[in-house]
Amino acid sequence: MDASYSIRLAKDEDLDSIKKIEQEAFSDPWSDEAFANLTNSWSFVLIKDEEVIGYIFYYGVKEEKSILNFAVRSDFQGMGLGEFLLTETMQIMHNDGVKLLFLEVRVSNFKARNLYKKVGFQEIGIRKNYYRIPEEDAVVMVYNGYDL
Ligand SMILES: CC(C)(COP(=O)(O)OP(=O)(O)OC[C@H]1O[C@@H](n2cnc3c(N)ncnc32)[C@H](O)[C@@H]1OP(=O)(O)O)[C@@H](O)C(=O)NCCC(=O)NCCS
Repeated sequence: MDASYSIRLAKDEDLDSIKKIEQEAFSDPWSDEAFANLTNSWSFVLIKDEEVIGYIFYYGVKEEKSILNFAVRSDFQGMGLGEFLLTETMQIMHNDGVKLLFLEVRVSNFKARNLYKKVGFQEIGIRKNYYRIPEEDAVVMVYNGYDL
């Protein structure tokens, strides 16, 4: 990846930029309350020229984490940056002792499903009506490739 892109832990000052990306990226964006404890979980931002252009949040117990939220700003999508942010932070999780990663993704979100499959996630089930606005099923995916 081009050295002008970097990843670091999210800080409170990043929240405004994160929320703006969130509003653009999702039909049912997180509320302010959902973001309130963000910097207490494993939250990372993708930076270009000191600007936040993406984020990913992990949460869970020591050996098992879930990806709670993940987006790249729309004008930076399709350039390999989502894959960069995902794989770099998956490695950070591994270094911290994580053995399993879980996530849910909208059935219709083929872009994200393709990316997750590309980096080694497997689809293991469906949660009916998991999402609202619009109501939709979630695909449950797991990554258990760390020890392979
Ligand atoms: C999903 C998302 C994070 C991917 O980030 P991105 O920077 O656009 O993706 P990348 O350029 O790194 O692409 C990596 C892989 O994703 C998949 N992908 C990306 N764009 C795609 C598209 N338009 N169609 C199909 N697959 C696509 C491909 O597998 C691609 O690998 P390839 O280029 O070798 O084919 C980004 O599109 C996004 O923020 N979407 C809106 C929010 C969202 O849906 N988040 C996920 C919620 S679970």
